[in-house]
Order: sequence, then C-alpha cells, then structure tokens
Amino acid sequence: MRLAGKTALITGAARGIGRAFAEAYIREGARVAIADIDLDRARTSAKELGDSAIAVRMDVADQTSIDTAVAEVIAEFGGIDILINNAALFSAAPIVEIERRDYARLFDINVGGTLFTMQAVARHMIERGKGGKIINMASQAGRRGEALVAVYCATKAAVISLTQSAGLNLIEHGINVNAIAPGVVDGEHWDGVDAFFAKYEGKAPGQKKREVGAAVPFGRMGQAEDLTGMAIFLATDEARYIVAQTYNVDGGNWMS
Ligand SMILES: NC(=O)c1ccc[n+]([C@@H]2O[C@H](COP(=O)([O-])OP(=O)(O)OC[C@H]3O[C@@H](n4cnc5c(N)ncnc54)[C@H](O)[C@@H]3O)[C@@H](O)[C@H]2O)c1
Repeated sequence: MRLAGKTALITGAARGIGRAFAEAYIREGARVAIADIDLDRARTSAKELGDSAIAVRMDVADQTSIDTAVAEVIAEFGGIDILINNAALFSAAPIVEIERRDYARLFDINVGGTLFTMQAVARHMIERGKGGKIINMASQAGRRGEALVAVYCATKAAVISLTQSAGLNLIEHGINVNAIAPGVVDGEHWDGVDAFFAKYEGKAPGQKKREVGAAVPFGRMGQAEDLTGMAIFLATDEARYIVAQTYNVDGGNWMS
C-alpha cells in the first residue's frame, strides 16, 4: 500500500497504459480519477476498478475541459497528490504527406495537453502547499526521430523537454516532475501503429508488431503492466530526490 491515502488524476486512463496505472495505483491504496475524452469507456473502467475510481470527461486539448475536470476531481477527492499526463495520439506519414491539421492536432493533445494539464494541477498543488508528483508519458520516440513518425516523435521530444523545464521550475514547491519513456507496448494503440505500417511499408497486419517485439532486447513487446512499477515508484516519497528525469522502461530498446 505504497500510495495509501493519495489521490491521482490520470489522463487517457479509460484504456491501455493509463488504465493499467489506475489499477496499480488503486492496488497501492490510492483513489484515482480516470480522465478521458471517451467518457463512456472511462465510466466502464472506473466501474470495473471499484469504489476507489471515478470517471471524469476531459479533453486535454481544450482548456475549459481541463479546468472543469481538474476542479471536479479536487471537489470529489479534496485535492490531487499525483498527476499522470498519459493521454496522447499517434500518427505516421512520410514527411511529404504530413498534413498541417494532423500536426496541429498531435501537438495540441500530446504537448499542449501535457503542459496545460500540468499547469492546472501545479497551480492547485502550489496553493495547497503539500507538494506533489507529476509524471509525463514520453516515449522512446522522443529520443530519436523515425522516418515515418516525424510529428509523433517531435511531440514526445517536446514532452521530455517540458518535463525538464517544469521539473526545474516546480521542485521549489515540492512538486517532482518526471517522465516515463516506454518502448513498444502492446494494446489498442499499437494495433493502430501496426495498421499505419501495414499501409506505408506494405506489411501484413500483425507483421510490424512481430518485428518490433523480436527486436526488443528483453525478447518481447512490453505489456502495460511492465510500466506500473516505475509509475508507482515515481509517485512515492522514495522518489523525492528525483527531479526532471525521463526514465526508459522499454526492455532495453534505448539507453541514455
Ligand atoms: N503503447 C505504446 O507502445 C507506447 C509507447 C511509448 C509511449 N506511449 C505513450 O503512453 C501513453 C499511453 O499509451 P497507450 O498505448 O495506452 O495509448 P491508447 O491509445 O491505448 O490510450 C490513449 C487514451 O487517451 C485518450 N485520449 C485521446 N485523446 C484524448 C484527449 N484529447 N483528451 C483526453 N484523453 C484522450 C484515449 O481515449 C485513450 O483512452 C501515451 O502517451 C503514449 O504516447 C505508448
């Protein structure tokens, strides 16, 4: 029960990695707000996770939605101790096919969503005076560009940079900001990635997944549960001296 008595807001937690984080946090004694643009699915997940979970509609690309959702969670829980900025979109295209609209949407959600949700929750944490933990979801895609994934990679590089700046800025308030950089994690997100590569590299469905899984030094793709240990640790007091860092949790794919 390493998070007993703590409250957490996790964006994009209706499914995938965010949902696994919610489940792990509840197991460790926290109460969790599952904040997602897909309210129906957030409600289903919250129901499955039991009394310690609530569902909140939140579109991280919309400032009013961020402010409303954060206020709702504070009202429900009495305060927010932990924020995980997990919501994100993926897209892929060769440089010559990237559309400005797609670029703007990804930056709005992956970068703007991370920055302005962090801002809204940090304001609350500062006012409350109890510090807090903020964990941003970066990616191995933020460490190195990829030929067909320019925009997504750039958004995740920006998340690593925002984590550094916010980490340095907010530690004086006792708020630790750090990030997790997963490698390849199986789930609905990667079903979509696989479909993109099927389109652009002429691969059979499932082939890209098999290839990336075989290339991981650990020997397989990650599962969402492979990331929960780091997400729990960074939210505990044990991690108090860790500031502005991004941790690779990727089976050995990347070293930094
Ligand atoms: N799966 C991977 O291989 C992998 C690898 C590296 C990094 N990541 C990162 O981990 C995080 C979670 O990934 P996942 O695989 O669980 O993704 P996912 O696509 O399965 O889940 C993303 C969730 O975010 C929600 N969402 C989308 N747009 C939103 C918005 N505007 N506002 C609020 N919620 C929104 C979706 O409804 C969904 O529930 C993301 O930041 C992703 O970039 C994933």
